[in-house]
Amino acid sequence: MQQNQIPTHIAIIMDGNGRWAKSRHLPRLAGHREGAKAVERTLKGAQKMGIKFITLYAFSTENWSRPKEEIDGLMTLLSHVLDNYSQQAIQQNMRLWVSGSREGLPPSILEKIDRTVKATAGNTGLTVNLALNYGARQEITHAVNLLLAEGKTNISSQDISAHLYQPELPDPELIIRTSGEERLSNFLLWQSAYSEFYFTPVLWPDFDETELQKAVTEYCQRTRRFGGV
Ligand code: FPP
Repeated sequence: MQQNQIPTHIAIIMDGNGRWAKSRHLPRLAGHREGAKAVERTLKGAQKMGIKFITLYAFSTENWSRPKEEIDGLMTLLSHVLDNYSQQAIQQNMRLWVSGSREGLPPSILEKIDRTVKATAGNTGLTVNLALNYGARQEITHAVNLLLAEGKTNISSQDISAHLYQPELPDPELIIRTSGEERLSNFLLWQSAYSEFYFTPVLWPDFDETELQKAVTEYCQRTRRFGGV
């Protein structure tokens, strides 16, 4: 039986920060802070394994419905994460890409993103694609509207792929969701047509290199048929 190669692109739904905090009688934000540490560990693991692209679902378009205090806390945390990441990315040949809408994001965050994306554009190591203010239905609708604005009348699936937020990003071979939830939650609906899914009960703040390795090992043992036999 042919085994899969290591995935080129892994996408992760980082879930369970709130429950991690709750079980320790801590505020939800403490869970997000630990979640940021798990991001660092995971990126290190992905780099070691030679993964080329990793997409992290950091903030969904639906997350705006959370209490203002939590949103503000997440944005502050994101700002720190971006500061740290931009230094590491420059030193470690990583590249930053972002998928999502700019609408509603604080200008200071947009500025940091733009600066880091530009500074790391020529890097050739791991590409970290941050799904930020991201919704897959919005992404597909946005692509269709771009095509209409270009005057297209007969839209192909290749046209849609070419008008997604990151047209150069290959489809993820593997999508991981932590915390025991087993759904996509408006994440990469178009790109996940042939993805393998890996669900783990591990809460995101407990995720690390070993957990990533487990997911990749399981992926490598699966057979992908793409609709064939
Ligand atoms: C899901 O946990 C996590 C989020 C909504 C935010 C993701 C943010 C991080 C991992 C930390 C910061 C990292 C970056 C890159 C900004 P949840 O709050 O939905 O958990 P719950 O389902 O247990 O309540």
